[in-house]
Amino acid sequence: MFAAVTLMAAPQTFRPGDVWLDNRDRHIQAHGGGIIKLGDTWYWFGEDRGRDNDPERRYVACYSSKDLAHWTFRNQVVRWSDPENLGPHWVLERPKVFYNAKAKKYVMYLHLDDAKYKVARVAVGVSDKVDGDFTFVKSFRPLGQESRDIGQFIDDDGAAYLIFEDRPAKGFHIAKLSDDYLTVEREMSLIKAPLEGGAVVHYQGLYYAVGSALTGWDPNPNKYATAKSLEGPWSEFRDIAPPETRTYGSQSTMLLKVVGSQATTVIFLGDIWRPKTQWDSRYLWMPVEIGDGKLALPAPREWTLDVKTGRSAIVR
Ligand code: DGJ
Repeated sequence: MFAAVTLMAAPQTFRPGDVWLDNRDRHIQAHGGGIIKLGDTWYWFGEDRGRDNDPERRYVACYSSKDLAHWTFRNQVVRWSDPENLGPHWVLERPKVFYNAKAKKYVMYLHLDDAKYKVARVAVGVSDKVDGDFTFVKSFRPLGQESRDIGQFIDDDGAAYLIFEDRPAKGFHIAKLSDDYLTVEREMSLIKAPLEGGAVVHYQGLYYAVGSALTGWDPNPNKYATAKSLEGPWSEFRDIAPPETRTYGSQSTMLLKVVGSQATTVIFLGDIWRPKTQWDSRYLWMPVEIGDGKLALPAPREWTLDVKTGRSAIVR
């Protein structure tokens, strides 16, 4: 007779900067990505820059996980072929997926551009299933403004926001999506700081916004500001890490809040870009030190997270 075994969720290990293998033993292709949680499962969407992809098309991959460390490849949920005729080297970056519970639809936003980044629009795709396929619906400039890097923020009340960088305004917007999520409806803030890679988290009654400077693929000192309301006023921006480390060679894409039975961990999700070998770009995920209006990204090293308790610990 076998004794009944209760499976305990063990802390899982994260190694920032390493090659991160999926269930097929392939490096995860989810760059400039975003993560949503549905039930007990997280879904990670991002730019799939796999070497075997057709160079005429652009791809978004979707992975799922129950512990944030082990990821199962689900599908290339986008395999689009230049939907707006933007020409060779057209750009699809930073896909973000929102689940619209009312319509039971998955709505993807992404940055759509031409080779010179002059188009500055978002594209919207829709799917009935989380793992695609996503059909191209339309592209537009949110609130009529130029939009390059986008980020996503879902507040504790479930409200969905798009963060988008606006070069002429020298800042970035946080704007609420419409009820059906198919358009961007209401400006919450235009934060007058020239930052991209925008990310927001709501932690202990305060909003923290993180972004990076506009230095292309090169890393720079990412910064944060805080506000009691999404409508501001926002504090001054401060470095999230010693500026000389240039965010330890990474760039922000999201702040992920993991609420467990004992603790809450906020993870900085960053990309370590390798522009000449994009398929080999890496991920820098680290739990941040956060609270009382301060946010700090520790030096990357091995750490663990137990998603059941929400506890994280730095190993060495
Ligand atoms: C920085 C952005 O954050 C990336 O998503 C990408 O657009 C590069 N610039 C292109 O140079």
